[in-house]
Amino acid sequence: MTAYDASFARAMDEAGMDVILVGDSLGNVVQGRKSTVPVTLEDMVYHTRCVARGVGRALLMADMPFLSFQGPAEQALRDAGALMRAGAHMVKGEGGGPFAANAAYLTARGVPVCGHIGLTPQFVHSLGGYRVQGRGAEGARLLAEAKELALAGVSALVLEAVPAALAAEITAKVAVPTIGIGAGASCDGQVLVMHDALGLGARRPRFVRDFLAGQGGIEAAFAAYVEAVRDGSFPTADESYAE
Ligand code: KIV
Repeated sequence: MTAYDASFARAMDEAGMDVILVGDSLGNVVQGRKSTVPVTLEDMVYHTRCVARGVGRALLMADMPFLSFQGPAEQALRDAGALMRAGAHMVKGEGGGPFAANAAYLTARGVPVCGHIGLTPQFVHSLGGYRVQGRGAEGARLLAEAKELALAGVSALVLEAVPAALAAEITAKVAVPTIGIGAGASCDGQVLVMHDALGLGARRPRFVRDFLAGQGGIEAAFAAYVEAVRDGSFPTADESYAE
């Protein structure tokens, strides 16, 4: 799940989450912006430092902001270094295709990288909105991008808002753990934005479940999320996209 401060990160860590992501979704849910595009490296470094103070055992992943992972390789390396010094164990960069070269540049220099393809919110303006990606013939392109990122050495791959069947195919054919968000139950792991998982989201895409509903508190909601991801009961077909 995503976290942006030490207190929630500690609760997630204690609930047994394997990975905590300092997502640039903080632009939406913390800063109240309309997209993640305005989020800066300084924002990401600040929140990564905060989250790192709450994490004991989980792997801490931090997002590279817009035009950081996608910029010149030297800049991507400098920015990834700043996030690692702030406490990240792995950085996440949005986009495949031409950006796989930067994934290779970072991994060759000892920076663990998680890829992120499908609906990549940093590209909302070029994608024409928050739409499901990879339907029909576009699925082959996403599979090819996943293979390129795997060759570039990424340690994991987020698949966002893609048909469940395509995510299952990528998970089967690409030898890197997949982490789905709106990508069906066949992914190796799942991620949700914390505010969505606690029923706070302003909009509610179909892949969001309110884990706080029916629970006694936030710690119990996090434990319910961990259990539902581990036992495969989240997401259901209704919480996923068909072809
Ligand atoms: O920024 C974020 O929270 C993310 C997840 C939704 C995967 O990238």
